[in-house]
Amino acid sequence: ISLKPFNTFGIDATATHFISVSSIDELKEVLALKNYPNKLILGGGSNMLLTKDYDGLVIHINLKGVEKVSEDDDFVYVRASAGENWHEFVIYCINNDFGGIENLSLIPGNVGTAPIQNIGAYGVELKDIFHSCEAMSIETSSIKTFNKQECRFDYRNSIFKQEIKGQFIVTSVTFKLTKRNHQLHVNYGTIASQLEAMQIENPTIQDISKAVIYIRESKLPNPKDIGNSGSFFKNPVVSTQLYNKLLQNFEDMPSYPVSNDEVKIPAGWLIEKAGFKGKRFGDYGIHKNQALVLVNYGNAKGSDILKLSELIQSTIKRLFEISIEAEVNIL
Ligand code: EPU
Repeated sequence: ISLKPFNTFGIDATATHFISVSSIDELKEVLALKNYPNKLILGGGSNMLLTKDYDGLVIHINLKGVEKVSEDDDFVYVRASAGENWHEFVIYCINNDFGGIENLSLIPGNVGTAPIQNIGAYGVELKDIFHSCEAMSIETSSIKTFNKQECRFDYRNSIFKQEIKGQFIVTSVTFKLTKRNHQLHVNYGTIASQLEAMQIENPTIQDISKAVIYIRESKLPNPKDIGNSGSFFKNPVVSTQLYNKLLQNFEDMPSYPVSNDEVKIPAGWLIEKAGFKGKRFGDYGIHKNQALVLVNYGNAKGSDILKLSELIQSTIKRLFEISIEAEVNIL
């Protein structure tokens, strides 16, 4: 079976076996199948690059359902199953006036994969609205609840990408959202200017969601039209020492403070400065509006995109002495 419809990069790799599960019991049954030693868990397919065909069983997590678990005067706790589309869930929250999630509008992927890399955008990260999640152990099929501390969230990182990588399948996530007194995050530069352009002075969460959708649509390619996985690399954190040295040659280099002796540099800027922005090599290339996004214009192979990413990494290393790390999972 072709995995093309199941990865937003639109890579036409195949899997020898494929099954879509829509209940916890089905998932248990599938995990118990002994004749498939290789199993690959697939959520929204929005953060992976398939570089070769998969010899084994792909398990597509199609668990659905959204429910309000509890509420008090200020907060509502909403549980969403792993297979829910992320943006549809955000819109459900916005329509119910549940706040905190609006800056995360239009991020591709599913609810279940959001905690794995602690998705984030425009000054908000998943961890800011995360209450807990349930995950099934691949080995024992038992369900364990992880609270926020246990998930060890960090920039595009969590325990699910580190200590317990490949051991659990997230089955649902419970969010803690505001019912009133919404805490708006409008400090991220492009949001403030977008709201201004929309002539909105006292924004609601609905306005912020609209502004984010507008910015994303103008900058980021829609995977339905051009295959991509969002940011291909993480923004690197470098020492202030190296940063100050680079500033002597590149005065206009943007940065965000991380700590007293470290700053984060936008990888998109480094890639643009290295001359890659908008470059096209046959069916693949670097997006013209956002250099951090690698794209598949049609029938690119995952291995071609991987090679391009390695060329970008080695060029950035040579020009700036900075190592940039893939954000996307390479399979
Ligand atoms: N920039 C350039 N050229 C480019 C792209 C960016 O010079 O082609 C510079 C600009 O100076 C710009 C700065 O980079 O001001 C930041 O750009 P942008 O606001 O587009 O954000 P980013 O750092 O490139 C990160 C996330 C995105 C998220 C945005 C907005 C990572 C790896 N990426 O990108 O997340 O949407 O911030 O918050 O942290 C994703 O993870 O897939 C993703 C899209």
